[in-house]
Amino acid sequence: MTALETAAEPREIHRLDYRPPTFWVDSVALEFDLGEEGTVVTARLSLRRNDEVAEGPLELDGEELETLSVAVDGRVLGQGEYTIEGERLTIPDLPARCELETKVRIHPESNTQLSGLYLSSGNFCTQCEAEGFRRITWFLDRPDVMATYTVAIRADKQRYPVLLSNGNRVGERDLGDGRHEVRWEDPFVKPSYLFALVAGQLASHAGDFTTVSGRTVRCEIWVEAHNLDKCDHALRSLQAAMRWDEEQFGREYDLDLYMIVAVDDFNMGAMENKGLNIFNSKFVLARPDTATDDDYEGVEGVVAHEYFHNWTGNRVTCRDWFQLTLKEGLTVFRDQRFSADMGSEPVKRIEDVAMLRLRQYAEDAGPMAHPIRPESYISMDNFYTATVYEKGSEVIRMVDTLLGRDGFRRGMDLYFERHDGQAVTCDDFRAAMADANGRDLAQFERWYTQAGTPRLVATGRFDAAAGTYSLTLRQECPTGQREEDFRALHMPIRMGLIGPDGADQPLGFEGEAAAGAPTERVLELTEREQTFVFAGLTAEPVPSLARGLSAPVLLELEEDEQRLAFRLAHDSDAFNRWDAGQRLFGAAILAGAAALARGDEFQVSKGLVEAFRAVVTDPSLDGSMRSLAMALPSELELAQRMEIVDPDALHRARRAVRRALAEGTRTELAALWERAKPSGAYSNDRASIDRRREANVALAYLSCLESPEWTAAVAAHFDGADNMTDSQAALATLCQLDVPDRQRALEAFYAKWKGDPLVLDKWFTLQATSVLPGAPTRVAALAHHPDFTWRNPNRVRSVVGAFAMANHSGFHSADGSGYTLVADAVIELQGANPQLASRLAGSFNHYKRYDQHRQQAMRGALERIAAVDGLSKDVYEIVHRALA
Ligand code: PHE
Ligand code: ZN
Repeated sequence: MTALETAAEPREIHRLDYRPPTFWVDSVALEFDLGEEGTVVTARLSLRRNDEVAEGPLELDGEELETLSVAVDGRVLGQGEYTIEGERLTIPDLPARCELETKVRIHPESNTQLSGLYLSSGNFCTQCEAEGFRRITWFLDRPDVMATYTVAIRADKQRYPVLLSNGNRVGERDLGDGRHEVRWEDPFVKPSYLFALVAGQLASHAGDFTTVSGRTVRCEIWVEAHNLDKCDHALRSLQAAMRWDEEQFGREYDLDLYMIVAVDDFNMGAMENKGLNIFNSKFVLARPDTATDDDYEGVEGVVAHEYFHNWTGNRVTCRDWFQLTLKEGLTVFRDQRFSADMGSEPVKRIEDVAMLRLRQYAEDAGPMAHPIRPESYISMDNFYTATVYEKGSEVIRMVDTLLGRDGFRRGMDLYFERHDGQAVTCDDFRAAMADANGRDLAQFERWYTQAGTPRLVATGRFDAAAGTYSLTLRQECPTGQREEDFRALHMPIRMGLIGPDGADQPLGFEGEAAAGAPTERVLELTEREQTFVFAGLTAEPVPSLARGLSAPVLLELEEDEQRLAFRLAHDSDAFNRWDAGQRLFGAAILAGAAALARGDEFQVSKGLVEAFRAVVTDPSLDGSMRSLAMALPSELELAQRMEIVDPDALHRARRAVRRALAEGTRTELAALWERAKPSGAYSNDRASIDRRREANVALAYLSCLESPEWTAAVAAHFDGADNMTDSQAALATLCQLDVPDRQRALEAFYAKWKGDPLVLDKWFTLQATSVLPGAPTRVAALAHHPDFTWRNPNRVRSVVGAFAMANHSGFHSADGSGYTLVADAVIELQGANPQLASRLAGSFNHYKRYDQHRQQAMRGALERIAAVDGLSKDVYEIVHRALA
């Protein structure tokens, strides 16, 4: 140990240290005696020595367990026959096959971490991924140990009438003493992280699904009785996902029962436990007056995501946690495709890429940068990241693009054929894809080993005499990574060349016949630099590259305002049209910020206003597309592109651009509002959703004019809203205005919704993200509101999370009060809920990109957190990486 290290320093786990377990567990029988003050868990494990590992004791994981007894083959072990050291129980001499029985007491009633067995709204529930099962009983708590489970749950009949676990319900009996018992059996082998149990007062909204082979599956959504009228959308989403997986991937559901339980206290979005998903209620409950159109899409996407895990995650799982993207990247890819099929493909793609760039590109450029398959971790909880999930999905998307839809399906079929019932690696997935298609995907592995967002620098040269266009694409090392570690990636670049008339040109390679050439191609890059020469061109084309973001790169291509406006108007790829607009508006805001920082004035160009006007009035755009195309890049996203981030100049510049666009197109905006504003009763069909989106965006722009007329229109929109989409949009707009209607609307909203936690979260968030002066003070007051609690993750995220992640100018207030507030929150939470605290601690990850003064203040905040006595390993890992 060096002088700097301390005994308390958490241990780092490395991917290459993987060793198979010394024992397998074939089956598990669990008994739960649930109690108000302590729960007793009895576990009987059928153990079998792993022949590949001839030696070694049995080592079990356990955390915060009070061990009552340990017995082997019916004989209780004495003190000397096993050891418990910290979080490990070791038994040295065991026969090759035996049954181990342990009895432990645990305390769900005081479990604030929300990992293991805990209480939410008085009901028992579990969360075991990644390492929560060890907080329930002694176990080989690692995903490569797969077993069948039988579960007996005993509890007070009155207080806990509903007792659920994985698989099929196989028995129930009254125990006579006011308690009852329900037994469950899961016939499929699973890793411990997929175990689940729920006990409490719940009611279900149910429906049937008939599988492709004609079996009937009962689908149940379990909620507190007063929420029964908010379950239908989740149920329909589940049924749609089941059908889609049959149609697209030939995957049928395997049990006769599928349950989803909504709980209010949950660290993440939802969990795919076999046959018994447990969800954050945010992704289940939806009614038009309580949930927005976006919330509805969120429910549909998450329900589908968890359902798709049944095959990509549960039937085929991960060998170890470094392989997490094997199930998450693939399942995100599947849910994204599903949502695209349910709604609009380009709209979904734009939303996904916007999120990727905002969260994942930022992560890639900061201290938490890691490959989609990380090399090491201190706490696995910290690696449920945008990189593992969203970039992981982009990597799968590239496989799909490279192999084509049919080739990808062949690869999936082979993957399931080879690995059903197994715990496997990302390499196994890649091998199945390659083998099913006779392709070499060896170089493609680099996407799994290299961190960072590669830059792709494009240059084009038109030779008028020869009629050729040479396109050179060069891969550059990601920012923050070492040049000597960067090796060329295998990436597909979907592209076209747009002619002066706005039409895609035929793409004949030099030496090929131009006639019949496609107007769009996928270029396969495998080298650092490659040049492609297209022939038969009569005029200089405008390149449209990486269409649909065909690879997760930062495309660098010099384009002036005129060219971007041209692509915004003409690119045949809807995604690239949007992207051209984002580049255009982004460049204007950044130029404005630079001017303001210098103390200069700046003007929004006429060209910019005209490009914007074209978007507002383009009859070919649907309302969702229009609203996306009208949205300016956020301050957070633009900050990533500034040399030294100046939050004030950035904020002022973005505001000024917004206002100038609104002033320049007020007539068109008003016409758009008139055409799209609510008329008649709420409906949730696609056209109505589209209309709501464009109406709300138009009104938000008009509100920038700060005229009494438009402020009154926003207030009236709020007062007249018959659905949460309009109500929230209007209130969000009012929250950015310093007008009396803001306070009045906030009070009305509160009075109406104070009894509905999910809607109340919105009320908190809208205030926490207001950029009006004094944001940190207002947020501090919100944290003292009687409805605020540190014990509910959604509530904490709606105040502190929203402020730190979605109120750039407020969080970075020059006096440092925003930093103090967030650091205080991390310190307040880190003992009780380390996972949540560590997410918030990540808000400081980019401090090095800000001015000296802010850097110092953020560094000070990090150091204050680092100095906390007994800092949890989750938070430790985040702050130490940041400070390194
Ligand atoms: N596996 C869950 C999902 O992606 C996410 C999750 C991870 C939930 C860890 C809880 C704990 O759907
Ligand atoms: Zn998942």
